[in-house]
Amino acid sequence: AEFVNADPDDLVFVQNTTTGVNQVLNSFLFEPGDEWLVSSHAYGACMLAMKHFCERNKIRLNVIEIPFPVEDDQQILKALQDKITDRTKLALIDHVSSATGMVFPIKKIVDFLRENGVCSLVDGAHAPGMVYLDIRHLNPDFYVANCHKWICAPKGSAFMYVKPDWKHFIKPLIISHYNDTDEGGSSHWANQFMWDGTHDFSAYFCVGDTLDYIEKLHPDGWEGVMNSNHKLVWNAGNLIAEKLGFDLPLRENYIGSILTLPMPDGEEGFPKFNETPPLKQKLYEKYQIQVPVFMFPSAPRQWLRISSQLYNNIGQYEYLADCLRQIFKSK
Ligand SMILES: Cc1ncc(COP(=O)(O)O)c(C=O)c1O
Repeated sequence: AEFVNADPDDLVFVQNTTTGVNQVLNSFLFEPGDEWLVSSHAYGACMLAMKHFCERNKIRLNVIEIPFPVEDDQQILKALQDKITDRTKLALIDHVSSATGMVFPIKKIVDFLRENGVCSLVDGAHAPGMVYLDIRHLNPDFYVANCHKWICAPKGSAFMYVKPDWKHFIKPLIISHYNDTDEGGSSHWANQFMWDGTHDFSAYFCVGDTLDYIEKLHPDGWEGVMNSNHKLVWNAGNLIAEKLGFDLPLRENYIGSILTLPMPDGEEGFPKFNETPPLKQKLYEKYQIQVPVFMFPSAPRQWLRISSQLYNNIGQYEYLADCLRQIFKSK
């Protein structure tokens, strides 16, 4: 709670961001004919969850077409404004997009939504440990994020924040022991989510120690870790862009520790979920490089996504750039 500056009573552990998003959608109050918004950069599983709940409840789902590359915050707010009507009640927005690595101007977005009477559900899966996160200042309606990404805690550790005004409505997906008791005082709401049947809770218990451990790996603590990862990925992106002769799609202020790089077009209609693009396959089989390659917003527009963590160094990205040059030269 301290790491993300939130009241511990407004936070619960969940196993992953997908669960947290489903948790909110499953309880959110609606009337048939309402409208919900989802960003075109949204993570596939969360986009599908939005579609599912909208179809089931006769809610209209509108996609906010956020341009990529993007020029400035105004372009993003304008895309939002174009889709808001007086029936719009909820918007799912990424803090850091998986597909594009873009860090959204999330405070401006949350404020803009609220001014327009729309609740914000922020998908912050990649944010904690990558970018500075202050939930009290951000003041979203809902914020869901993973601890098993940039905080480096074990898989199966994530959290959901719910603004106190909403806590009364947001119920666990799994109804279990704490639901027929009012034990726990101000912690009662959070307790209901904790005991969702027997499973391995150890990942949750590791989050605090992981935060303390990683903090000690850099003389400037977490701020140093985040800055150093950001600097490395930015330098790496520039190096690859220069060697391959393209421009980076985003300015530095839209980048955390993930950078998506434009590649020559892939195959039309490819890949489907769980299929491996030939470029990714080749990098792995011939050069032993494991790196995400995907189409965005749709095939054949192809991108390759690099990330930086403390264990990476610039030499690894030089190697990637040389391998990409070899691949494209031989085409
Ligand atoms: C933006 C975003 N949202 C949601 C998720 C889903 O996270 P999980 O698989 O932990 O539920 C991811 C995973 O990469 C993501 O990048």
